[in-house]
Amino acid sequence: NDPTQENIFSESHRMVTRGERESALGQKGGVFWFYGLSGSGKSTLAIALQHQLHQAGKTVQVLDGDTIRTGLNKDLGFTDDDRRENIRRIAEVAKLFANAGIITLVSFITPKRELRESAREIIGEQDFHEIYVKASFEECAKRDVKGLYAKAAAGGVKHFTGKDSGFEEPDAGVASLVVDTEGQSFADSLAELSGYVLPRVDAQ
Ligand code: PPS
Repeated sequence: NDPTQENIFSESHRMVTRGERESALGQKGGVFWFYGLSGSGKSTLAIALQHQLHQAGKTVQVLDGDTIRTGLNKDLGFTDDDRRENIRRIAEVAKLFANAGIITLVSFITPKRELRESAREIIGEQDFHEIYVKASFEECAKRDVKGLYAKAAAGGVKHFTGKDSGFEEPDAGVASLVVDTEGQSFADSLAELSGYVLPRVDAQ
């Protein structure tokens, strides 16, 4: 009985249904939640997969730092509370996309198990695919595409993930898929990913 919800009435039963949208689009919606350290390759993989799926005629949205942290979540930083609110809003947005029949590729560090669980709860078990993009801190620091690891080492980034803010790997069996970008080539990672995603977004 949340008092702020008291005078809110749902009209959703009158809307075009998800099934109707999915048949029009010729696909199944869902959320593929990519997470891992900064520089692990999650956004690069999500964008490459988006191109593959788009070429196959699918409607795909990518949500990442560029699309969310510069707009909807530009008021949020990197404290534990801000990361929790970041993930909560993203999960709510991803859920809207999935319910519109859209294949939604979400790419955020999502460093804590608790954050992944809360995203799963908001989105719903049926639609939530947890994809761990695995690369060690040392490997990401070596890649240092954005120069952030060097900056953090010099003390120039507060709450940097893996340094002074923790990252929890998934417990065995929790992630739907683990893509090891350190142990295999980018092409192999992408192939593994599309092998997982494609059959799950095909219209039945
Ligand atoms: S989180 O933990 O899920 O809320 O983080 P996320 O929204 O994915 O934001 C990560 C991107 O923000 C940049 N950045 C930082 N990352 C980690 N720690 C700190 N302190 C930080 N400050 C800025 C960084 O470019 C991350 O981008 P990716 O794509 O992960 O490399």
